Amino acid sequence: MEDLNEIDEIVVTGGRPLHGTVRIQGSKNTALPVMAAALLSSGTSVLRECPKITDVFLMEKILRELGAETWWEDHDLYLDCSHADGTVIPEYFSGKMRSSVILLGAMLGRNGKARTGYPGGCVIGKRPVDLHIQVLQKLGARIVENGNEIQATCGKLKGAEVIFPKSSVGATEQGILAAVLAEGKTVFTGCAREPEITWLCQYLTGMGAKIEILENGSICIEGVKKLHSGSGTIPPDRIVAGTYLMAAAATRGEIILENPPIDEMHAILEVYRKMGGQCHRIGGKLIVNGKNAGFPLELLETDVYPGFPTDLQSPAMAVLVTIPGVSRIREKIFEDRYKLASWLCYMGAKIEIRDGMAVVHGGYPLRGCIVEAEELRGGAALVIAALAAEGVTRIRGCSFIERGYEHICEDLTALGGLLIKDRGTL
Ligand code: UD1
Repeated sequence: MEDLNEIDEIVVTGGRPLHGTVRIQGSKNTALPVMAAALLSSGTSVLRECPKITDVFLMEKILRELGAETWWEDHDLYLDCSHADGTVIPEYFSGKMRSSVILLGAMLGRNGKARTGYPGGCVIGKRPVDLHIQVLQKLGARIVENGNEIQATCGKLKGAEVIFPKSSVGATEQGILAAVLAEGKTVFTGCAREPEITWLCQYLTGMGAKIEILENGSICIEGVKKLHSGSGTIPPDRIVAGTYLMAAAATRGEIILENPPIDEMHAILEVYRKMGGQCHRIGGKLIVNGKNAGFPLELLETDVYPGFPTDLQSPAMAVLVTIPGVSRIREKIFEDRYKLASWLCYMGAKIEIRDGMAVVHGGYPLRGCIVEAEELRGGAALVIAALAAEGVTRIRGCSFIERGYEHICEDLTALGGLLIKDRGTL
């Protein structure tokens, strides 16, 4: 039974510039759809350098629920899907994570039927699944939304031409997972172009899928009868790399990112440079000097890739509150992703939310206090603010942060930050 008095905190003593070297973990948003892809074969797939984070563990549990056998060897995750013929994801699991919904396409491809509760995930605004449902319907699935459940059935999925009316990472992945085993040719246009989509296609191609990503971003898939097991390395996480970059900027520190996916970070580095941050690349490393991060941003807008990622909007806000002057942030992907602002104000920042925009009056000193992480990236941003604040901050709800960061406390401690994970009871 859940202990109502349980403590789940990160305690941060702020006010020290970060310095040192950190290695970037594998990408959460690549690992999750690749795990779903493993379900499309009856063999044992392996994901090397897979991050050991709660969302991956949850996806692993769901796959086990469906009949897969799973095990870890260090950071390599093995998924034996010989008997993964289950067709039902209980609401208990689906409600805990957004990505569970993309298993629908994979289960349909494998078994012709699938049932799941509505997906949960971070509370960052409306997160409908209409595009997921539409793409499956276009490929021939019959979908019934029944109270709390989505029920999908199909004979054989059939290739189709599908135009996404809006860019959605998850719905694009859903479509790809369903189309690789469908009969005939599928062409998706209006697809999301995030790097995670390319990584998923690459992994599936390694399993025998026939996928071509055209220059205009459309994705052509020629369905195949069967896929064999997959094997591949999960790339480093661009959002984790960006989080640590922002932490260096907020504390005016100087750090080295050992293996960041630099080619996927153009928009992130551009924003960081506009703040006054400096960085240069040596081999695969990124040398980050945040000492001169002191310029407010006239307008920071999030956008679909290759734009500035919504997942780094909160970490960027945590930096901007430390920079004197007025900065403006417009969140264009998830309308309600400004929850962090009230916690930053509680720490001493001045931020107004008006007309769908955050207006940050930066430079007011932040002071340590008790705050609460309400979702994954907002939680990481609180850690950044706490590192920049005077005194001790206790961040509650650190389980949200652990959904996406494998060892944020250890990583930032290695960079000279003072962080302690506190688990116990009151
Ligand atoms: C993924 C990422 C998440 C990131 C987001 C946007 C994973 C596991 N998560 O989430 O970290 O913040 O992309 O880059 O990869 N939408 C609809 N109908 C749908 C689906 C989405 O209207 O059926 C809308 C959403 O409300 C949102 C926009 O489309 O406004 C983009 O969402 P989407 O790209 O689907 O995000 P996720 O795949 O959930």
